[in-house]
Amino acid sequence: MSAPLMAGMSAPLTVLAAPRLELTRVYHFSAAHRLVSPRLDAEANARLYGHCARPHGHNYYLEVTVAGCPDPLTGMSVDLGRLDAIVAGAVIDRVDHYALEEVPALAGVVTTGESLARAFWGLIRNAGPEVALVQVTVVETAKNRFEYRGGE
Ligand code: NI
Repeated sequence: MSAPLMAGMSAPLTVLAAPRLELTRVYHFSAAHRLVSPRLDAEANARLYGHCARPHGHNYYLEVTVAGCPDPLTGMSVDLGRLDAIVAGAVIDRVDHYALEEVPALAGVVTTGESLARAFWGLIRNAGPEVALVQVTVVETAKNRFEYRGGE
């Protein structure tokens, strides 16, 4: 039971209709890669990419940001189990502990952080078209994070 409103008091605010929130879920994978552009010869690749033209690996983080409106009953905006399943199937299971250049889903991708972010966006989008994808971020090192929000 609520107390009656006193003079000068305004009515309490009710929950806004369909508030939109964003949620970021963090995933992890380890993978080997090397930066090699098929459009360049070996010498040009070595000159352009330096150490990164040689096989090496990263402990990557993949951050997936989605939008949703909290369900009035549960308070949750996103089914995290469903999101986890989508991201695992679309990306993590395909790349974890593989050489990225050998991953069929990444065929033709020069595995820079920029290109991985775009490729992962597409893979997640295709696997879960019902997910309101906002941003895909690839964290390659403590110094490098690559954020893709769709479009060109
Ligand atoms: Ni690298």
